[in-house]
Amino acid sequence: MNYKQSIATQLSPHLPNIAIEEIAAAIEQPADPKMGHFAYPCFKLAKTLRKAPPVIAAELAAATAAALPPWLQAIEPVGGYLNFYLTRSHFAETVLQAVLHQPLEYGNSNIGAGKVVLIDYSSPNIAKHFHVGHLGTTVIGRALYNIFKFQGYETIGINYLGDWGTSFGKLLTAYLKWGDKAEIEQTGLVGLTSLYVRFHEESEKSPEMAEELESTARNWVVKMENGDEQGLEIWRWICNVSMQEYQKIYQRLGISFESYRGESYYNDKMTASVDELRSKNLLTESEGALVVELEDHKMPPCLIVRRDGGTLYATRDITAAIDRHKTYNFHKSLYVTGTEQKLHFSQFFKVLELMGYSWAKDMLHINYGLFIFDAGKMSTRKGQVIKMANLLDEATAKTLDIIQEKSPNLENKAEVAEQVGIGAIIFNQMYNSRIKDAIFSWERMLNFEGETGPYVQYSHARACSVLEKAGLLDKDTEPNPQNLANYQNFYLPAKIPQYAELLTDDESFEILRLIYNFPEKIAEAAEKYEPFIISRFLVALAQAFNKFYNTHQVLTGDEVQVARLTLVFAAKTVIASGLALLGIAAPKKM
Ligand code: ARG
Repeated sequence: MNYKQSIATQLSPHLPNIAIEEIAAAIEQPADPKMGHFAYPCFKLAKTLRKAPPVIAAELAAATAAALPPWLQAIEPVGGYLNFYLTRSHFAETVLQAVLHQPLEYGNSNIGAGKVVLIDYSSPNIAKHFHVGHLGTTVIGRALYNIFKFQGYETIGINYLGDWGTSFGKLLTAYLKWGDKAEIEQTGLVGLTSLYVRFHEESEKSPEMAEELESTARNWVVKMENGDEQGLEIWRWICNVSMQEYQKIYQRLGISFESYRGESYYNDKMTASVDELRSKNLLTESEGALVVELEDHKMPPCLIVRRDGGTLYATRDITAAIDRHKTYNFHKSLYVTGTEQKLHFSQFFKVLELMGYSWAKDMLHINYGLFIFDAGKMSTRKGQVIKMANLLDEATAKTLDIIQEKSPNLENKAEVAEQVGIGAIIFNQMYNSRIKDAIFSWERMLNFEGETGPYVQYSHARACSVLEKAGLLDKDTEPNPQNLANYQNFYLPAKIPQYAELLTDDESFEILRLIYNFPEKIAEAAEKYEPFIISRFLVALAQAFNKFYNTHQVLTGDEVQVARLTLVFAAKTVIASGLALLGIAAPKKM
């Protein structure tokens, strides 16, 4: 039931000059339910009705109060607002019906049906470590992927690997001079990155050496661009070695991609886009290079072809965007990267617009702030990049310590520590609006009582444990439409009205109110591309759940018990769904 709509229907006869949709759109949901479960502000009406807002509110209240529908308990004018109070039992019934009929689908929508959303995210650079600079794009990208999918969009996750460019010339040069295949297969990215270091160390020895190495490197770039098999073979192997390490991280994060078309894929497609730019009269020569002038758009020129004929990051992104539009005919194409790449995206989006592609407006740079970490507290060498694998390991180890202490009897401690440790990192990254810097503090992040991932997970586990005590939690299987029969005791729609009558206390009402808002929160997170809306929602729901749990006895042994267990089940289900949207596991015990 859409209460805003129903309230608008109540008001509509008394507001003949306003469209019902407009009334519904104006209805607010005060953060504090004491100010009305819903409220209609009368301020805008003052002008047309030539009356003061409080007068309008009072008149509307008088006109509607005479015949309140059963779902409305009261309508009260307060200042210029008309406040609506729902009949709690009716509300409880509405919410429980909605959740219990399709627990796992609750909150989803088909608003995106038939529309494709591309999400270019994570995209690490081959032969380099997967470091924390890619944490934001990886977890935000994944959350948006999940959120859009839940909204019914066809979502395509694209890992646009940084697998092409001048650095591979250096790498190849260094590998052929000093590299050892077997050793690199052993050491992986550590071995590969040390080749870069060696390249630069040797270059510093003498100008002659530097020149020789640089020119060999440039040569390799040209050779590879022209399809040199020896070079490409080594390059492919380097990609594989790197991918193996990345895959380990993706596995731990539960991430996979629909497409791994990286920068190299566009190597032989760039001439076509450069030609297209030329034929559209967009290219200008500048110091031997080819650029698209963007002065009229208050941006520096977008570099397309270097003096030496090489192409650039922007050239590849322009080419990739055209290819993606051809392949997917996307509704939206999102690029999740740090704010520091803002100019790059603004530039190449503009170039595509100048090329006449009207779909350029459907491309969005989803940027995020810096990752700020007190490096001294991390057990890696100072000055070194923080590797993602180390970050995940450390989170898991620290969580394991906490669990050893808190729940010494837990069976699968290591598994839970991994889920909670990684969950804490993901949650922390998305607890604030994207553009804010993500501040990293182990102590705060792993606090089981703070506004954290572990707190939300812990609340979920608490709910599971009550259900289990009542024999209602199937330990081995997630509730799904097939095994919902196990939950018959309380999952019985015919009985929901009875349970609803028993769930009218303040604490139950608050849980129900939050659950009712879940679908709207997901829609808002999608509209604003802001997963933190879900994180905040989850903390509020976990807090409401704990308040309820600390105030009311659940296992009373009578009808009330079944009603309360139903509510616990609904809360648990929504918490797990919200965590899943963020890419976080919901262990049943911790
Ligand atoms: N590989 C790039 C980096 O690590 C990110 C790629 C983002 N996607 C894109 N289409 N440019 O900075």
